[in-house]
Amino acid sequence: MDVLDAVRGRRNMKQFKPDPISEEKILEWFETAKLAPNHRMTEPWEIRFVGPKTRQNLGHKPNFGDAPIVIAILSKAGNSPIERDENLIATACFVQNFLLLAHREGVGARWTSIGGTPAGREVLGVSDDFIVVGVFGVGYPEEIPAQKARSPIGEKTVHLP
Ligand SMILES: Cc1cc2nc3c(=O)[nH]c(=O)nc-3n(C[C@H](O)[C@H](O)[C@H](O)COP(=O)(O)O)c2cc1C
Repeated sequence: MDVLDAVRGRRNMKQFKPDPISEEKILEWFETAKLAPNHRMTEPWEIRFVGPKTRQNLGHKPNFGDAPIVIAILSKAGNSPIERDENLIATACFVQNFLLLAHREGVGARWTSIGGTPAGREVLGVSDDFIVVGVFGVGYPEEIPAQKARSPIGEKTVHLP
């Protein structure tokens, strides 16, 4: 699959098949995803595999679409507001790399913000040194949602003098 097809085909999935995916496979994608741009080579990401007890304590209502694997991705808060932003941007690039690499092998993810709440952070054991970028259900999707419409890019484009 080329990059164009990967970017066009990726979706935020809702529901997953029970078919397992090995942790090894997931780490293989992260191993490549870490080539994401990151200023000053802070490599600000952290991956937390969410076990059954933590998953239950998170209390996600549709249970991450019954995904066989749940992963939290964190970003280092850094030592200044700029570093915080730069780290977050780098981790978002890391996440997108991961999503595209997984998609390339037929695996999808359901991105949830549940880990960002105070309660979610506590369940995940996140200190003030980290931001929770997302908690992701990962698995083979039951169904591929239709592409959601986006605004024409011209509406988001400005030419400076
Ligand atoms: C920072 C961030 C947080 C998100 N949190 C949620 C969420 O809590 N629940 C959810 O259903 N989708 C969440 N999403 C996924 C978006 O809803 C989804 O990407 C968007 O609807 C576009 O759909 P697509 O990814 O299939 O193109 C999140 C996406 C991002 C980037």
